[in-house]
Amino acid sequence: MIETVATAARAYYGGADSALDDDVYDALVRGIEEYEREHPDHVLAESPVGKVAAGAIAPGDVPHSVPMLSIANVFDPEGLLAWGASLERRLGRPVDGFTVEPKMDGLAVAAHYREGRLEQLVTRGDGIAGEDVSHAIGTVRGLPERLAEPVSIEVRGEILLTGEQFERANEIRVENGATVFSNPRSGAAGTLRAKDRPYTIPTTFYGYVGMPVADDDGSFAAFLREAPHSEVMAAVANLGVNTTGGTPAGLRVCPTLVEVQEAVDAIAAMRPDLPFGIDGVVIKADSAADQADAGNGTRAPRWAIAYKLAAVHKITRLVGVDWAVGRTGVIAPRAILDPIEIDGSTVGFATLHNPADIERRGLMIGDQVSVYKAGDIIPRVEAPLVHVRTGDETPIEFPAVCPQCGGGIDTSEQRWRCVQGRACGLHAGILYAVGRDQLDIEGIGGRLVTQLVDTGAVADVADLFTLTREQLLTLERMGDKSADKLLAGIEQARTRPLSRVLCALGIRGTGRSMSRRIARHFATMDAIRAADVVEMAQVEGIGDGKGPVIVAELVDLAEVLDKLVAAGVNTTEPGVTPGASTAPDAADDPAAGQGPLPLAGQAVVVTGAMTGVLEALSRNEMNELIERAGGRAASSVSAKTTLVVAGDKAGSKRAKAETLNIKIITPEEFATLVAPVLDDGA
Ligand code: IVH
Repeated sequence: MIETVATAARAYYGGADSALDDDVYDALVRGIEEYEREHPDHVLAESPVGKVAAGAIAPGDVPHSVPMLSIANVFDPEGLLAWGASLERRLGRPVDGFTVEPKMDGLAVAAHYREGRLEQLVTRGDGIAGEDVSHAIGTVRGLPERLAEPVSIEVRGEILLTGEQFERANEIRVENGATVFSNPRSGAAGTLRAKDRPYTIPTTFYGYVGMPVADDDGSFAAFLREAPHSEVMAAVANLGVNTTGGTPAGLRVCPTLVEVQEAVDAIAAMRPDLPFGIDGVVIKADSAADQADAGNGTRAPRWAIAYKLAAVHKITRLVGVDWAVGRTGVIAPRAILDPIEIDGSTVGFATLHNPADIERRGLMIGDQVSVYKAGDIIPRVEAPLVHVRTGDETPIEFPAVCPQCGGGIDTSEQRWRCVQGRACGLHAGILYAVGRDQLDIEGIGGRLVTQLVDTGAVADVADLFTLTREQLLTLERMGDKSADKLLAGIEQARTRPLSRVLCALGIRGTGRSMSRRIARHFATMDAIRAADVVEMAQVEGIGDGKGPVIVAELVDLAEVLDKLVAAGVNTTEPGVTPGASTAPDAADDPAAGQGPLPLAGQAVVVTGAMTGVLEALSRNEMNELIERAGGRAASSVSAKTTLVVAGDKAGSKRAKAETLNIKIITPEEFATLVAPVLDDGA
């Protein structure tokens, strides 16, 4: 067991890939700790317990002025309270405030600034001495070569790859024929230690300790020695260095452990939205006197504790890959995994993006792979653990023909598509188009769609609107009555708002809420079709990435769009004036013609069952209502949420909103709030 932990510790601290994920590693170390407590005479020399970096790192050649210690861990509220109680016992007085900040999941370094200039960058090493990695100076965002003031200071912090930098790093690695990094932490470690690479991978620094350099007795050094941690870090930020306090998670000062626990929960809730990985939350005694009086143990200070969060990277086996044809004809690979619990849910499938991505990652069936999932995001496979391969792994076979229709595949782009495109996914596409949140045509189900598609009566969405009574009557089990009912449904569908018509088209890169944003922005189908990439990118959430795809899709759909207009389908958005296209939060209330929209600037999440006048509304209709009122609808509660509508039996989303201190209202209160736009629109 000790050998397993030692190998994993070497991988963890040395920047290689570990076959254990963090939860398993922590549990093993805790197990050894317990065993050693009960059998003190069985403690082996190589035990990882009580050692900085679990004893895994060979010391470098730059000694630290003050040892760079680890932090002890707690895993739950009881652990936090126990730590607080022992700290107070040791101090013999109440703790004078705590700070709460994210525990960055990267590599600890010490940055030595002398008279405002960054002179040396040193890794933690074994805590006593580290490796000089000054070659990285200039490639680390947030670690300027010059401070705003010519002061001397040692800033300790973490170097990491943000989510964006991690993606970019792997692109750069592939371009240079190197293997991809399996996770941001090992990527940061590998990047920092590598010298003389032909390419540069940018990283980011976040500081969490500011201390004077040895023998400095100036006034700034005195401030660094005497001021509370929170004030020291504010000063570090003012000098131009990134700090944990400058992140969305922030650095909070909490008077008691009750507030500390709330702040921990709030940071944990934000975790999926943070632009970098965290593996916990760090709590420190804020005052310098408390820190000095509490002192340090051999491995960790007594004035700080890490509240560990469950790992969101987990390791499991890639059992297989299946390929599904989507509505737009895209052939998407999906990983079939040995089911594993990540961040509160069981994950059995994960996205693999596209064939090029599979090749980039060098995945094989049977591989142990690291899987990432946090919050509501779709789980994704990151990389194989190449060094634990057994030799029994087999290559992933790419389809030679479309798995749906057996036809050819267009492989000219990263995402493969059936050469028939939308036509191949036609059955799924039409079924989607007639769905409740799109054209909402009652009486069309899967069986009827199959008949319409197979007989050639419907070759695209627009064909639905020119179906004749005679055509319908030729179909199996279609009598006069059901034909009339269907025709009436189609007639009604002609009047749906533009946003729903747009959504029914199944344009790549757009779903329900994006379709509404586009429709509100442009007001008419003509204006949407006339938009170029730059104009399209102005719609919130589209940007430069999706703009070109959407514009190209609209060009592709030109014939269908013409047919829709010819069939008399509505192409305007109710409540939006053509030409007055602006962001909803800047727009005036189109219904009342006065004052701002009631939900301008709000990010709203609906949860639980609606009651009162809203009772009959589907979730999508609620979202439409929110957007008509100028707000932005979201499906999950995050730090960005500003309002939660909680109906009957609201559960975890309501609870999360409470921890995050987000305003919560009832469906009835919400109905009053949006009354000006309630009768408008769909
Ligand atoms: S304070 C000894 N604050 O976590 C106390 N450390 O597992 C000084 N870490 O050694 C460190 N985020 O490398 C502190 N906000 C934070 C941190 C943090 C990450 C690292 C640090 C530490 C390790 C312990």
